[in-house]
Amino acid sequence: MRTLQDVLPFETRLIETRRILHRHPETGFDLPWTHDFVVSRLREAGIPFTPHVGKHSIVAILENGVGPVLGLRADMDALPIFEANSDLPYRSECDGKMHACGHDAHTAILLETGRYLHTHREHWRGTVKLIFQEAEEGPNPGGAWGVCQSGLVDDVDGFFAFHVSPAHPVGTVAIKSGETMAAADTVKIRLLGKGCHAAYPHLGIDPIVMQAEAILAMQSIVTRKLDPTESAVLTIARVQAGTTHNVIPAFAELEGTVRTFNETTRRLMEAEIRAVLESVSARHGGAYEFRYIREYDPTYNDPGATLVFRRAIERSLGTQGFVPLDKPTMGAEDFSRYAAMKKGCIAWLGTRGDDTTGFSLHHPAFNIDESALKYGVLCFLNLVETYGKEE
Ligand code: NI
Repeated sequence: MRTLQDVLPFETRLIETRRILHRHPETGFDLPWTHDFVVSRLREAGIPFTPHVGKHSIVAILENGVGPVLGLRADMDALPIFEANSDLPYRSECDGKMHACGHDAHTAILLETGRYLHTHREHWRGTVKLIFQEAEEGPNPGGAWGVCQSGLVDDVDGFFAFHVSPAHPVGTVAIKSGETMAAADTVKIRLLGKGCHAAYPHLGIDPIVMQAEAILAMQSIVTRKLDPTESAVLTIARVQAGTTHNVIPAFAELEGTVRTFNETTRRLMEAEIRAVLESVSARHGGAYEFRYIREYDPTYNDPGATLVFRRAIERSLGTQGFVPLDKPTMGAEDFSRYAAMKKGCIAWLGTRGDDTTGFSLHHPAFNIDESALKYGVLCFLNLVETYGKEE
């Protein structure tokens, strides 16, 4: 069993690594700097790896005799946000980009976990695949897709990951077993009318009235069409139409997101949105275009994998360090692809210290309490050490 005494000697390097990454945020599939940084660190540590998986993902492999094959995943991409932490000595040096979802922390934790496992082989058996992944935040199909397609993780028995959480204090890890995060789908709608002078509406077909009716009608899908014991979200987040005050435009656009937990609900949402568009456009004599884009599937934490991770966490942090969650979130993760491919578990690593580390994920003032990083490494180390021994 690893303890804090094993991890503390390299805590400074762990924090420094996270800060270097924080200063150099990159987004989506476009992570050349981050890719090369991780590659240089792996090379320096003597860990074999495959670069440019997908575009800028990396899969490193540690082999250590016969045993289980584990996949540990860290996402590496940042967000298109202007960082508001102007006093931070390691604030983003790329204006308009920011590590506001803590993926810099995930990458630093995985690098140090790999380094320790590589140099302390007496404590564990089997194979560990370190997955440094691009484009968790999209665009579609997300970075996990390329990793899963690469063939490099086909033999993995179980996938595990951390995501930082400002909702939980440092020294704790929270897991929801079973359904843990929602499926995220995008809807793109175009309502087609007939443009005309705004003073002669009877000569055209007003797509803005259609748009307004459609938005309101869609609000009753979740309340009136969905089984009340199921859950879903439909949010229209972009409304676009027209160019000036006295012209009725030819079309109007809507975009939004749908969040669900299962296939039945997912299909129902798509069908009911279509039914609304059908009836609204028929009544006005207009038409519509509708795209329902499946982005990420729901994330399912396998109960067995959750139990194994839980034991490793309790060994690392004590029983009070483990927080069982009873509700999933409507957020989404492309970790879902790994979990669906075999089985897996993603856990929330508590990173809230004082007031400065309580901002939500994706907030421009988001930051973590860096003393949480070592706990991420420690839990991973105990997971690798005990995985497969108790099942
Ligand atoms: Ni994230």
